[in-house]
Amino acid sequence: MDMKIGVIKGDGIGPEIVDEAMKVLDRTAEAYGHSISYTQLLMGGASIDVNGVPLTDETLGQAKKSDAVLMGSIGGDAKTSPWYKLEPSKRPEAGLLQLRKGLNLFANLRPAVLYEELKDACPLKKEIADQGFDLMIMRELTGGLYFGKRSTEPVDGVMTARDELTYNENEIRRIAKRAFDIAMKRRKKVTSVDKANVLDSSRLWRKVVEEVAQDYPEVELEHMLVDNCAMQLVKDPAQFDVILTENMFGDILSDEASMVTGSIGMLASASLNETKFGLYEPSGGSAPDIAGKGIANPIATILSAAMMLRFSFDLDEEASAIERAVESVLRDGYRTIDIMSEGMKQIGTKEMGDRICSYISRQ
Ligand code: IPM
Ligand code: MG
Repeated sequence: MDMKIGVIKGDGIGPEIVDEAMKVLDRTAEAYGHSISYTQLLMGGASIDVNGVPLTDETLGQAKKSDAVLMGSIGGDAKTSPWYKLEPSKRPEAGLLQLRKGLNLFANLRPAVLYEELKDACPLKKEIADQGFDLMIMRELTGGLYFGKRSTEPVDGVMTARDELTYNENEIRRIAKRAFDIAMKRRKKVTSVDKANVLDSSRLWRKVVEEVAQDYPEVELEHMLVDNCAMQLVKDPAQFDVILTENMFGDILSDEASMVTGSIGMLASASLNETKFGLYEPSGGSAPDIAGKGIANPIATILSAAMMLRFSFDLDEEASAIERAVESVLRDGYRTIDIMSEGMKQIGTKEMGDRICSYISRQ
């Protein structure tokens, strides 16, 4: 297969971790007889430095022409970086939101898995960690508070800020379907998370999710309020299979879910639209404090590349080969500093990429 992949290396640790993911993709392509061509795209702070804006129309156009986009992370230190002296619509994060909207990436999949090998890194009590967990957050990504009208202006002489939270039934239906489809391939349970005891948007969310559930009689559906869900994630994460939720709740809950796995440096994510196209990026941020030191964990980006092979190219075997290689490296005791524990061998970003490559083989 011929794969046209757009690459946004991004800011902070982005370039280092993406380099390793490309290395692993190249090794996998070699092992399975595929060819990959990469187009480098600028987005976020790196684009501001060159173009003055975080995303140009040209870059968006190039992204649309790719089969899929692999991304590192964007953004800098809000206190020290000049990017944050710009007005909000010109900052790095605005580029990411424009890209999500421009590519219609409404479905954001964020798996949170507790690896057997990394149980020691899990901050939960041992009896909870011992249960293990493997959940998938399905976050709506192009609606809600992130894309509603906003303003800051005086009202009756008092400075007032407003952010609007809107969802229509079509937006809810299409993401709900995605959640049920994924659940059918997993343990057949969907927990739809909302704040229906307060918000109209959540009440509509619940109603539409229930309608969609009618088409999936095999899937168990439960509703959970978002505050309760935040609590349940640390109390009993094993109860979850697929968590379906709106944009803002998904942002918050996915950080929480990743933290209970022990390291955000391990978690992949995929943002998908109605076609095979997807944007694949680690769940973690750009970590400007450790950028350039060669110590960042590239595994989340490497696993995102595996998700790309699976979702955008239907290359299940190749994706599994990468996932197996990651597990083998962990089993053999190699760790980057963020997941280091006693008795293990600490290695840097590049060596982690190299070791994962060395384990890639056809089965
Ligand atoms: C994420 C990030 C983004 C978001 C930021 C960088 C705008 O936190 O992907 O979770 O809030 O969606
Ligand atoms: Mg976030």
